[in-house]
Amino acid sequence: MPVTIQQVIQWKQLGRTIVALTAWDYITAQLLDAAGVDIVLVGDSMAVMLGYETTLPITLDEMIYHAKAVRRGVKRALMVVDLPFLTYQESIQQAIHSAGRVLKETGAQAVKVEGGYGVMAETVARLVQVGIPVMGHVGLTPQSVHQLGLKQQGKTEDNAERILLEAMALEKAGVFSIVLEHIPSDLALHITQKLSIPTIGIGASVHCDGQVLVTSDLLGLSERQPPFAKVYTNLRETIISAIAKYSTEVRERKFPG
Ligand code: KIV
Repeated sequence: MPVTIQQVIQWKQLGRTIVALTAWDYITAQLLDAAGVDIVLVGDSMAVMLGYETTLPITLDEMIYHAKAVRRGVKRALMVVDLPFLTYQESIQQAIHSAGRVLKETGAQAVKVEGGYGVMAETVARLVQVGIPVMGHVGLTPQSVHQLGLKQQGKTEDNAERILLEAMALEKAGVFSIVLEHIPSDLALHITQKLSIPTIGIGASVHCDGQVLVTSDLLGLSERQPPFAKVYTNLRETIISAIAKYSTEVRERKFPG
C-alpha cells in the first residue's frame, strides 16, 4: 500500500521512525522503493548532480522533469518534491502556481519549501488551504547559502529560538512534517518534543522522528559529502574501477570477447 501523509503523521504518535532519502531519477527511485524507504524526496540537492555549485540555479522545469522520472519508479513511498529557489518566495500566487504544477504534472503527493519566518508561514497556510500538502525545512536552508553559508545553525540562543519559532509557525500553518537540517542535538530534541508533526533530521541527531540523507552521499558517489553524512558504501571507487577495467579490455581487444 502506498504511504500516505496521514500515515506519516501517525507514525510519530506510534514512535515508528521515518526513513527518507533523495532520488533524482527512475533507477534510484526504484531502488529506494525496493528497499522500503518511506519518503522519497526529489530534493533540489539535484543541483549537485547537474554540476551546479549551489541549489540556486535549478529551475521548476528541471525539478518537474526529474520528478516525473522518479514518479515512474516509486510505487510505495510518499513522494515529495522541493520547490526550487524563487519559485515560491515572490508571492502566494506564485507558490500556488509552482506547487500546483508539481502536483499536477509529476504525481507527487507533496512539496517542500525552505524557511518558516513571517510570510513563508502565510504561504504554507494558503498552499495547505488549497489542498497541497507541504513539508517544511528549517535550520540550515541551502537556498539561503549566501546568507547562512553551509555551517551548523541554531548554535546561539537567539538563533535556536528563531528556528524553534519557525518550526512552530510552520506546524500552525499546516505542514505535515519538517526537515531539521544541521542543528545541534538538544535543539532538534526540543523541537521534536514540542511539535506533534514528525521532524525529519539531516545532521540533526538521532532525536528526530525520522532521518533523511542525500542518496549520492550515502552511496559515496559525490566527490565531497557534508560532515554529517554517513558514507555507507564507496560506489565512486567501484564505478571508476569498473570503467577503468572496461577501458583496458576495450584497448586490449579483450571486450567484446
Ligand atoms: O534538497 C535536498 O536534498 C534536501 C535534503 C537535504 C533534505 O532538501
